[in-house]
Amino acid sequence: MERFAKVVLEELNSVLETPIQLTDLEIPPEPELGDFAFPCFRLAKTLKKAPPQIAQDIANRVKAKGGQGSRWVQSVGPYVNFTVPPSDTLKALLSDILKGKDLGDYGSLKPDSRGTWVLEYSSPNVAKPLNIYHLRPTALGAALDRIGRYRGYRVISINHLGDWGKQYGMLTVAFRKFGIDPKSDVKMKDLVDMYVRINAEAEKDPTIEEKAKQAFVDLEKGDPEITALWQKCVDVSIKEFEANYKRMGVKFDHIWGESYYKDQLAPLIAELKKMGLLVESEGAWVVPLTDENGKEIPPCIIQKSDGATIYATRDVAAALYRFKKFGFERMTYIVGQEQKLHFKQIFGVLKKMGLSWADRCEHVPFGLYRFKDAKMSTRKGNFVTLEEVLELTKQRVTELMKTRDQERPVGFIPGQFEETTEKVAMGAVVFADLHSDPARDVEFDLDRVVDFEGETGPYLQYAHTRCKSILRKAQEAGVVSSMNDVVFQEKWVDLLVKQEELRLIKVLGQFPLHLERTLGFSKASQLAHYLIDVTKVFGAFYRECQVLGDSAELTQARLMLVEATRRVLARGLGLLGIPLPEKM
Ligand code: ARG
Repeated sequence: MERFAKVVLEELNSVLETPIQLTDLEIPPEPELGDFAFPCFRLAKTLKKAPPQIAQDIANRVKAKGGQGSRWVQSVGPYVNFTVPPSDTLKALLSDILKGKDLGDYGSLKPDSRGTWVLEYSSPNVAKPLNIYHLRPTALGAALDRIGRYRGYRVISINHLGDWGKQYGMLTVAFRKFGIDPKSDVKMKDLVDMYVRINAEAEKDPTIEEKAKQAFVDLEKGDPEITALWQKCVDVSIKEFEANYKRMGVKFDHIWGESYYKDQLAPLIAELKKMGLLVESEGAWVVPLTDENGKEIPPCIIQKSDGATIYATRDVAAALYRFKKFGFERMTYIVGQEQKLHFKQIFGVLKKMGLSWADRCEHVPFGLYRFKDAKMSTRKGNFVTLEEVLELTKQRVTELMKTRDQERPVGFIPGQFEETTEKVAMGAVVFADLHSDPARDVEFDLDRVVDFEGETGPYLQYAHTRCKSILRKAQEAGVVSSMNDVVFQEKWVDLLVKQEELRLIKVLGQFPLHLERTLGFSKASQLAHYLIDVTKVFGAFYRECQVLGDSAELTQARLMLVEATRRVLARGLGLLGIPLPEKM
């Protein structure tokens, strides 16, 4: 549908005062309302007219132009709706989706045909295991990363590890005090224990705090022994993070922690001073800031009274470095909502430095996790690690799949059951996260997350395996030479006339638009909801239209739909990071 959306966009823009973008078009919830809708509420203010009146005017003007869209347009209340007649769309759509081998490349745009997008996500702190909370920026970031690349952006992904600060001074003190050999096999768990222990000791012995401060000062100066201890903490952590990332299918272009920018901090402070932006405040150096309404907000501290830099200093340096290196069109930080003020301050400093690209930076905030399960929710102060959640989910998935397999044997080959439980558990956890609005808190409810019938990862994975099994049966029946070989023929499209068939093609055709909206709003929930929709519409088609066993030609025509659905589901799920089991 993307090509039709572009026509609609062009025709609207030819009659509108201020041009709109693809993401300003909505997709009506009901097919009767058309394929695209342009809401006129926002224009009401500037035009000082009622939205329905505006919608009617716009529809009339588009009609008067007499272009392709003039046949599609109609105003309905405050909306300008466009309905593309099936004869214009079906053949083009199906042939687009079925082009190419395997999954094809439907909805993709040429690599590097769009701008550079620096995407920062995950960014955990070292010496602490990945917490369930980190699933949010990691899953969302990785999804946007994949979709961005698929849609032609030159994506640069960065993991901005928290690896600098006084707490790492504290850890180096712990190494020494507890006589731990940095050459020994230290695990993440050991680092966590050491940190807890040294902090407990620090409560009794105030000199430890002083030593930690000094250790960090020495670390910033490059003391080789302390640097080696710190490096050990970083290496141990990265190794464990990587195991988690691998399991999730996540890879970064750059793992550049805060420490990466350490040599750029002194020059940055000097420059800010030269520009006259730094003000002394109680011995510290700060940049005073106001918000977009000119109201004062807390200043951004750049250097503390003891001469140390802070988290924010490193963020300003990182932004400058990234722009110098990549000259991005957009830079997105996927970071918890509790850091809203922090990013306001960072972007504020960049603006005060007169950098026009400051406006290209955005913070995508996300909410917290809560647990429905009593056992988990009581462990508030403690960490609930991502691994624990995955294991818990995997146990439940294993039970469910065993029962299902007893009722209706799936026919797993040796080893496949275990592999499938991993994929289903991962899919369930990741989908539940992405399906919810990132900006809000999510509640982790295990029963809901793994429900094969709910709006879940397993539900979508199952729909995908069902498409495959239909294709497999078609192959066994000799209808197609191979299940990977459904061919497109224009004449067969004419046989698709039932409402469920037409609806399915149209929904499949919306795929590229939902990818674009996902990127526009930085919300994977957009794509997640769409894939649920596809599955439901496919379900209706499957109930109403027998695929195998009808006339040979009609069977071929319907197999095209099954294959098109398989491709969109597989591609969509793959972009979200949901693994695809062969059978389940
Ligand atoms: N390490 C930080 C934390 O765990 C998140 C870093 C976010 N990114 C940034 N550029 N500040 O809270």
